[in-house]
Amino acid sequence: MFPDVEGVAVFFCTRLIDDAWLSEAETEFIQNAVPGRRAEFATGRACARAAIEAVGVEVGSLPVGTGRQPVWPSGITAAITHTRRAGREFIAAVAAPDSDGQLGIGIDAEVIQPLKDGVRDMLLVDSEQIAVDELDQKSRDEGAIRIFSAKEAFYKAQFALTQGWVGFGDMFVDGIGDSGSLVETGALDVLAEVRLPAPYNQTVWDGLVISGVTVRRF
Ligand SMILES: CC(C)(COP(=O)(O)OP(=O)(O)OC[C@H]1O[C@@H](n2cnc3c(N)ncnc32)[C@H](O)[C@@H]1OP(=O)(O)O)[C@@H](O)C(=O)NCCC(=O)NCCS
Repeated sequence: MFPDVEGVAVFFCTRLIDDAWLSEAETEFIQNAVPGRRAEFATGRACARAAIEAVGVEVGSLPVGTGRQPVWPSGITAAITHTRRAGREFIAAVAAPDSDGQLGIGIDAEVIQPLKDGVRDMLLVDSEQIAVDELDQKSRDEGAIRIFSAKEAFYKAQFALTQGWVGFGDMFVDGIGDSGSLVETGALDVLAEVRLPAPYNQTVWDGLVISGVTVRRF
């Protein structure tokens, strides 16, 4: 699921847990949120703790950074995703060893559904729109969501290394399928720090596209 990386641990949940056990620093970020969001945040943290411990690193609190990213302990890289469809939850986290801060890993899960008017134009560059339109009618929603999900996973992976913003128009996928690469459309400064194209893998499971992306520093 995560290309070119060893020792990866993934944990997922299909039910939310409550947030009473979170640390003070973690609770601070969601104290004004609705109960569902608090539970989603807590379940993501629980999956992340399990994944990090599985790669052999001790976990304390996982507070939130200025880019809304989880702040991971040193020695690992990790990511969280959560989504819901028809009242069913999917929450997952991935962790991988990263002793010298060279690796970013991203996970994303998206519900396969039609994108609202205008949203597809915002998320997909022209070559991706053409690739989706070339699919047979019944595969187009899945195709567009595959592209969206690969980009969201990429964003998390690169952010771990660059702490920088990358927009949907800054990257494109080189095909639509269970594996591929994300390629730069331009020469965004923050992306000069990472090796591109960045490989990704995907799977379709229970109405979701789940993506895994690995990014390495130069
Ligand atoms: C940050 C973002 C990628 C999250 O994706 P999402 O599909 O909305 O939501 P997911 O449930 O998959 O992921 C949410 C989790 O992402 C993590 N996250 C949030 N900001 C993050 C960041 N800057 N870097 C890494 N991870 C981040 C958090 O763990 C969050 O869950 P939590 O708040 O409960 O801890 C998305 O909201 C976003 O801002 N996208 C715009 C940028 C982008 O994707 N560009 C495409 C470039 S090719």
